[in-house]
Amino acid sequence: MKILITGGTGFIGTALRKHLSATPNDLVLLTRGEPRMELSGALTVKYVHWDPSARGEWEKEVNGCDAVINLIGKNVFEERWNNEVKKQILASRVLPTRLLTEAIGRAERRPAVMVSVSAVGYYGDRGQEMVTEASSAGNDFLAEVAQQWEAAALAAEQFGVRVAVPRIGLVLERSGGMIGKMLLPFRLFAGGPIGSGKQFLPWIHMEDVVRGILYPLENEGVKGVYNLSSPEPVTMDEFATMFGSVLHRPSWLPVPNFALDLLYGEGAKVIISGQRAVPERLLNAGYRFSYPSLRPALEQILL
Ligand SMILES: NC(=O)c1ccc[n+]([C@@H]2O[C@H](COP(=O)([O-])OP(=O)(O)OC[C@H]3O[C@@H](n4cnc5c(N)ncnc54)[C@H](OP(=O)(O)O)[C@@H]3O)[C@@H](O)[C@H]2O)c1
Repeated sequence: MKILITGGTGFIGTALRKHLSATPNDLVLLTRGEPRMELSGALTVKYVHWDPSARGEWEKEVNGCDAVINLIGKNVFEERWNNEVKKQILASRVLPTRLLTEAIGRAERRPAVMVSVSAVGYYGDRGQEMVTEASSAGNDFLAEVAQQWEAAALAAEQFGVRVAVPRIGLVLERSGGMIGKMLLPFRLFAGGPIGSGKQFLPWIHMEDVVRGILYPLENEGVKGVYNLSSPEPVTMDEFATMFGSVLHRPSWLPVPNFALDLLYGEGAKVIISGQRAVPERLLNAGYRFSYPSLRPALEQILL
């Protein structure tokens, strides 16, 4: 299979490439970095330089691909939010997704399927409410970003391409994300829940993120938006207690909201608010989670 991927050098993209390297595939990876070729197991990766805010030579690469996976986006925890940072968070997702969709429209041989990720932040802060794909959008900044981002991707349907949009939850893996930030304090006996502890975490193990992103490539019936988070979301308190228990450490020192506000400003909302999201559409489509429950997921990651 020939797959074109954006944002493939990042946290999720790296795990995806590793997974794909087990079978012979050709990957074309659009990056702001240098062009190069790489052989990784059975996988051939051609890195193609692009400016994700402009049309260019890269568009030719879309022609003849079997699938497109769109993972691009400025990391929401990269720096403290202000108006300029918020603009970048929005533009780094919506603009490249639009350009990609338009390039697909112009291609002579279009991909059969495009998977363009979104986030459970689509739903905004939902407290205890159970959230499925039928739930309404939220009304905060990230909910607005997700709506524009998803619309830009779903526009590719007009070109006869099947579009799948996984709304990803909080990704758990040892090398980064939330686990990367929590490990040290817990190891030093100074760990605890982040924020009030009452917010729900729509967590997901990296293996399920990768399998859930590839699921539409293997299953022609999968299209449209779907939650990509575990079927058993937990509160932050439950998460921190389980985290400590797996590491044989106490969970007693909460990280207060004001500290997060200092670090991330409005961006702290990503972690101090939450969604009790469940993957109803994915389960109905027959997907079986490798890690539906938190303890085995944390044991696999931490031990
Ligand atoms: N990780 C999570 O828990 C999570 C949860 C929900 C949704 N998501 C979404 O899933 C996607 C991938 O997540 P990730 O954690 O793998 O992301 P990541 O590691 O932060 O970055 C993904 C890639 O996007 C490109 N990129 C970064 N900043 C950019 C900018 N300002 N303008 C244009 N391109 C930029 C980079 O590729 P190059 O340097 O090669 O160009 C980077 O490798 C993102 O859209 C993210 O919002 C992630």
